[in-house]
Amino acid sequence: MDRTLIILKPDSVQRGLIGNIITRFEQKGLKIAGMKLACISPAVAHEHYAMHKGKPFYDSLVTFMTSGPVVLLVLEGNNIIDVSRKMMGATFGFKAEPGTIRGDFGVSSAFNLIHGSDSPETAKAEVARFFKPDELLEFNRAMEPWIYDLSNGIAQ
Ligand code: RTP
Ligand code: MG
Repeated sequence: MDRTLIILKPDSVQRGLIGNIITRFEQKGLKIAGMKLACISPAVAHEHYAMHKGKPFYDSLVTFMTSGPVVLLVLEGNNIIDVSRKMMGATFGFKAEPGTIRGDFGVSSAFNLIHGSDSPETAKAEVARFFKPDELLEFNRAMEPWIYDLSNGIAQ
């Protein structure tokens, strides 16, 4: 199954929204394959957002991402990148639709609560950036046959 890297940014942790956001992913039926609380170093934050280097918000973005603990998650599911990005909503809280994480919990253009990988290639690199292989667990959930139709041998 497809995997993606999710970061609950420092504002999510400071505002006590960790449980609320993770609950949304659980209720959607997405599987948590890895999870930890950590502080991102400046070097890793620079690397993670390297595609934005030179943009006006880059320095403050790195400062924000290193300002406190974050929750790192690896989520698994069919079409996981599309599904998780839709659940996150548009980048800026004031533009994000109600019903999305950013739309329901924030109004800021900078403090937008959550990061999610934006392509399968990025997801692979981002998961490897934050998780060692043995931190990603393979296990069966009891509810799996009620999340996907597995009757044809594939998850539908
Ligand atoms: P992310 O990478 O964090 O999941 O967010 P995203 O794909 O929705 O947005 P992206 O364009 O990749 O921007 C990365 C992060 O930079 C901050 N940002 N600030 N002030 C601005 O114009 C601006 N634009 C982007 C946000 O924290 C955004 O999540
Ligand atoms: Mg992005």
